[in-house]
Amino acid sequence: MTGGVLTAGDNAEDADVTGITCANRARNHGCALAQISQQSPEPIPATYAHPMAAPGAVRDQLSRGLRDLRISVTDRCNFRCPYCMPRELFGADHAFLPRAELLSFEEVARLVRVFAALGVTKIRLTGGEPLLRRDLAVLVAEIAAIPGISDLALTTNGSLLSAQAEALAAAGLRRITVSLDSLDPKLFQELADSRVSVQTVLEGIAAASAAGLPVKLNTVLRKGVNDDGLLDLVDYARAHGHTLRVIEYMDVGRTNGWVLDQVVPSAQARARVAAVHPLEPIGDEGTAERWRFADGVGEMGFVSSVSKPFCGTCTRARLTAVGELFTCLFATSGTDLRAVLRSGATDVELLDVVGGRWASRDDRYSELRGLGTVGVARAEMSYLGG
Ligand SMILES: C[S@@+](CC[C@H](N)C(=O)[O-])C[C@H]1O[C@@H](n2cnc3c(N)ncnc32)[C@H](O)[C@@H]1O
Ligand code: SF4
Repeated sequence: MTGGVLTAGDNAEDADVTGITCANRARNHGCALAQISQQSPEPIPATYAHPMAAPGAVRDQLSRGLRDLRISVTDRCNFRCPYCMPRELFGADHAFLPRAELLSFEEVARLVRVFAALGVTKIRLTGGEPLLRRDLAVLVAEIAAIPGISDLALTTNGSLLSAQAEALAAAGLRRITVSLDSLDPKLFQELADSRVSVQTVLEGIAAASAAGLPVKLNTVLRKGVNDDGLLDLVDYARAHGHTLRVIEYMDVGRTNGWVLDQVVPSAQARARVAAVHPLEPIGDEGTAERWRFADGVGEMGFVSSVSKPFCGTCTRARLTAVGELFTCLFATSGTDLRAVLRSGATDVELLDVVGGRWASRDDRYSELRGLGTVGVARAEMSYLGG
């Protein structure tokens, strides 16, 4: 190391620029920052002592680290679930993003390396409907190869899964979440506002299982809409070895006509299940509270974002299909990382923008819900990636 700069050829163990040795980084994190610095032609200033440069050390204003990143790969969807993309607003004349506006796979992968250097270990690809993005398995393979990324998952409506499950698993996808709000053929189509049959989705789920992917099923329960089908979904998940996660209906976006009355609090849903299949708590995993069936046949989870907000432990960032960084599902606007990428920024500059944004983060919308924030403009779930 010379002249106060760390170059790719320097001994990274000695020339630590972040207050944490590269060997530590490698142990903790697969050393994505080291990989960036090796790829970067430009030297990294040794004075780069930004606290968020140390993987795992980036902390926001409420001392929350940056651990997981949801990446929306498209704003398009072939369903029109009214709670997400109501047809009145996402109809035939809706202008979806032109392809050139979307981040390329190379751009996404480059950003993932930056996020990995800041502490991210979990990536989830989502949308819109992510399986509408052509050659998604290529992106999966690129991300799977990034050091430090230990978990790579995908959330899908399952309609196109049969044809793609094997390629996704072969590319390095670790697990999959399929959204399934009802098993009833008629109600399923009503809830998705689509002609795709529930059978098609069930075939997709079976294909994912056959390809070796662990499957979670996401069900958004709404009172008087699909809550009658909860036990059928529980039985289906138990019979097939999948983990069902019951999600409280959220007030995301401004178009879904959310009313608190339609929310089924997790405690109520859990009591209904436990009355038939006794449950025992097994702790929390990310945003979900996990419960196992007392008879030993699997487990299920509850995501209580409305009745029991988890802002205090939220370590999740979101990247939209056009490269905006959102630090909260309920944020009004994001940080335009695509502009930074396309302006020719170096990896270190990108690291600084992302780390700086995270360091200034103080979002805790769900905890403040009901304190007058409900009328505020927010981005839609299909845009942000659920
Ligand atoms: C936005 S979708 C994107 C991925 C894919 N199209 C799918 O449906 O799985 C991701 C998840 O968000 C959930 N979601 C959408 N709107 C929601 C809302 N208002 N409240 C709770 N969950 C919602 C969906 O049920 C889905 O499980
Ligand atoms: S929840 Fe998923 S499947 Fe339904 S409209 Fe939104 S993006 Fe599409």
